[in-house]
Amino acid sequence: MHTKCSLLLFSPQNESDQGDPPDRALRERVFSPVRETECQTAFLHAFDQNLAHDRISLAIRGKSCMTAFLEVTDLKYCASNGDQLLTDVSFALPQGAILAIAGPNGAGKTTLLNLLAGIEPLRFGDVRLEGQSLKKMSSLERARKIAVVSQHSNPDGRLTLKDYVALGQMPIWNDHAKSEHGRALDHILMQTQITKLASQPMARLSGGEKQRAHIARALAQRPQLLFLDEPTNHLDPEAKGRTLSLITALGITVITILHDLVMIPEFATHVALMKETYLTAFGPVSDILTQDAVRTTFGVDYVLLSHEGRQIPALDIRKTAIHT
Ligand SMILES: Nc1ncnc2c1ncn2[C@@H]1O[C@H](COP(=O)(O)OP(=O)(O)OP(=O)(O)O)[C@@H](O)[C@H]1O
Ligand SMILES: [Mg+2]
Repeated sequence: MHTKCSLLLFSPQNESDQGDPPDRALRERVFSPVRETECQTAFLHAFDQNLAHDRISLAIRGKSCMTAFLEVTDLKYCASNGDQLLTDVSFALPQGAILAIAGPNGAGKTTLLNLLAGIEPLRFGDVRLEGQSLKKMSSLERARKIAVVSQHSNPDGRLTLKDYVALGQMPIWNDHAKSEHGRALDHILMQTQITKLASQPMARLSGGEKQRAHIARALAQRPQLLFLDEPTNHLDPEAKGRTLSLITALGITVITILHDLVMIPEFATHVALMKETYLTAFGPVSDILTQDAVRTTFGVDYVLLSHEGRQIPALDIRKTAIHT
């Protein structure tokens, strides 16, 4: 979503020079077209230089000044064997959104997430984070903005859980004092309810405990954008709710693959449905996650049950005849 606007900053060169443009001697900066953030940056820069407000003429022409936090255009992905795993995916996401990606096994969800997170290089299409293409970001820049909880993380089993989580702080190590990192680490272990396991080697943890450790490591990175591939896998029902509550309360933009369709209305703001390499629907949850869409995408009925004054989503998964 590019903003079609121009910014012109006029400032008189000396005190007596107070006439109207074009009579004034002008220092003029024109950006056209620019993004809203660039307008704001230039405007603030003018204020930083102590230019009085009445000496600055700001002209923003054009329509919407909404800028997408994440902008995805025409993504495609072909595997080395020539198979097309992703076809023409485009969408834009505002800052602070919680996007759930759902779709059947093999639809291309992990493939999409790996491209969006910069794990897999972009060959076709583009992903822009606050206007900056992932293609132009160094791996350190990416790590300072983006954290990923992968579907198959396999850390060295000899690492203690605490040391593993602390690895998440490496990209931001120089930003804070050691003592602050220590406090932040303890807080994250507490939030993810793994403090008691801090000195256990990773190899000894249960599936759910490992999953919490992966999430804790990602949080330790203090990302602006968090990707999770099926984060509720291995978690018990209470831990699922608690983990998604924690993630969605961070105030950052989150993109998560979720097979738990019934969790989506409670925790996500947006949903992307995928099927056979395509993004088949994208938008606010209430618009997209309809009974028809779930039946078409997954072949099961999605129902809303009334319980204690709330509408509780449920899936009607039936026993099917299997011919052996
Ligand atoms: N390197 C590869 N070469 C060829 N095919 C691949 C490769 N990697 C993945 N695939 C295939 O691409 C399809 C999409 O894989 P992907 O992992 O993105 O699916 P997914 O939607 O995340 O599925 P799941 O819900 O099971 O995790 C699958 O059919 C998979 O077998
Ligand atoms: Mg997957």
